[in-house]
Amino acid sequence: MQEIASLLLHWFDENKRSLPFRTHKTPYRVWVSEVMLQQTRVAAVLPYYERFMRQLPTVQALAACPPEKLEKLWEGLGYYSRARNLQKAAQIVVQQYDGELPASYEALRALPGVGDYTAGAVASLAFGLPCVAVDGNVLRVWSRLHADDSNVLVPATKRRMAAQIQAVQPAQRPGDFNEALMELGALICLPNGEPLCTQCPWHTLCLARKAGKQAQLPVKTPRRSRKALSYTVALVLRRGPHPACLLEKRPSTGLLAGLWQPILLEGELDLPAVYNALAARGIHGLSREAHPLDTARHVFTHLEWHMTGWCLWCEDGCSAPDGCVFAALEQLETQYAVPNAFKAYRQHAENLLFASCKTEADRL
Ligand code: ADE
Repeated sequence: MQEIASLLLHWFDENKRSLPFRTHKTPYRVWVSEVMLQQTRVAAVLPYYERFMRQLPTVQALAACPPEKLEKLWEGLGYYSRARNLQKAAQIVVQQYDGELPASYEALRALPGVGDYTAGAVASLAFGLPCVAVDGNVLRVWSRLHADDSNVLVPATKRRMAAQIQAVQPAQRPGDFNEALMELGALICLPNGEPLCTQCPWHTLCLARKAGKQAQLPVKTPRRSRKALSYTVALVLRRGPHPACLLEKRPSTGLLAGLWQPILLEGELDLPAVYNALAARGIHGLSREAHPLDTARHVFTHLEWHMTGWCLWCEDGCSAPDGCVFAALEQLETQYAVPNAFKAYRQHAENLLFASCKTEADRL
């Protein structure tokens, strides 16, 4: 048992990556990093993390941040409720804890958006408390070490493995031990395909390796199939001296709440149906010129969107109906948070707006 911990910690000390939330560790920095790292890989998180910390360096700054700015800082990271909960929690920390995150697993766990994993990670990494932090990477590493073929998606498996990890966690370095498990999962004990077993500090102990089963573990029962929804994106662009793209705000609750998107119509619509649907939404003054856009797909946890699209044009005088805005290129880049689901359509809009700005400049 002790060997498990000492081999791992020794490997971690020699091989851990230098990451911004490791080199300058405060409870706030650890908390934000752990929330960003849920569902998102380290490489994808890093630029977001650095920018977030520059703009919102303290709990107080996060608590007071205008929601649109927060959405923009989170744009592209996905799972936007993480950002909203982070801010709600920051407001509670300011009001109830004088701006200092509480050094207690239970108090952390009671904050919005803080589950078992995040509470354990902050408690151990930032405060040195003897808690575990078990995410999907840790479950993979642990299942392989013990050649344990229990389904890791079942809560009872997670509880059992968490208890086993707790039992070998060294009292002097609980945070390092947790982070070392994550690091092993990120660098050596890789998902999908062959892990780098010859470089693993546990290569002589690992039961999955001994049995040649490392590629079959962890066991995860197949997900229920996701519901597929089809949509038509109507990318409405305004030409003339003020080129812009029409955006609508999503409802304030539910999936991607409050974020901005091109006009999104239910179902797979042909062009006449698109004109009708837009007229029904109070969008008039469109020219008859239109071109079809590529299809796109976006996968959420429980849903999958299948999108087709049309690009349409309106003249300079055209106004945006309630709940919509005409966003110029610069506003699209700096002001309105558009989720990644629309990445291809947004890129198309930006290219056309850029060309439109250039044509306008040449004309003048
Ligand atoms: N994944 C989640 N938290 C992490 C951390 N602190 N280090 C590496 N990978 C992580």
